[in-house]
Amino acid sequence: MTNILIIDSAATGAASVSRKLTRELAETLQRRDPSARIVHRDVGAAPIPHLTEATVPAIRAGLVESPEAERALALSNELIAELKDADVIVIGAPMYNFGMPSTLKAWFDHVLRAGITFRYSEAGPEGLVTGKKAIVIEARAGLYSEGPAAAFDSQEPHLRTLLGFMGVTDVSFVRAEKLAFGPEAAAAAIEKATADLARIADIELPLAA
Ligand SMILES: Cc1cc2nc3c(=O)[nH]c(=O)nc-3n(C[C@H](O)[C@H](O)[C@H](O)COP(=O)(O)O)c2cc1C
Repeated sequence: MTNILIIDSAATGAASVSRKLTRELAETLQRRDPSARIVHRDVGAAPIPHLTEATVPAIRAGLVESPEAERALALSNELIAELKDADVIVIGAPMYNFGMPSTLKAWFDHVLRAGITFRYSEAGPEGLVTGKKAIVIEARAGLYSEGPAAAFDSQEPHLRTLLGFMGVTDVSFVRAEKLAFGPEAAAAAIEKATADLARIADIELPLAA
């Protein structure tokens, strides 16, 4: 059975392009493989808290000295279990101020734990979340994959680094860009992203036939 983890992070509810694309991909994957198990973690609707003085010791060193720290560690363990169980990870990532939404960054802050999702070895850092396929769906008002704003893209390189640091190196990035360049450009961007996702679902995903 294939386990699929879908992470949505858009704060824009039903208007969200990344949500539309993650939803359609989930429907396609479930149709292809009715036995696939889909877990939906919606950090846009239910944000992951930022780390605080009370919770950092729990996340970084497993030290629990308050109910707040206990809750943070329990959430971290739950998020890591979802991640480790997944064969396929789908992340819906809007671009907010040239990067990812802060609640998606908070998700990474809760799952990147030394000795659990990565470790430092003599050969350097080593990711422990291996054997996964990830698809990151990026929704952006502007154009960053080429042209003058390409240098402002702090979203895709950061996501690639964080996933790669945990060992998730097989990552496909699907971009819906130029969403604010008028209705025709937006429709074309969504159509292209949909086609890219269909191709990835056809060729790259480990689903039952
Ligand atoms: C707080 C905020 C910051 C944004 N910053 C950027 C940005 O830096 N660059 C950009 O191209 N679009 C930016 N946008 C536009 C979103 O990337 C765009 O609306 C996209 O469709 C959001 O994804 P969604 O449709 O899944 O919500 C921003 C939107 C919000 C709400």
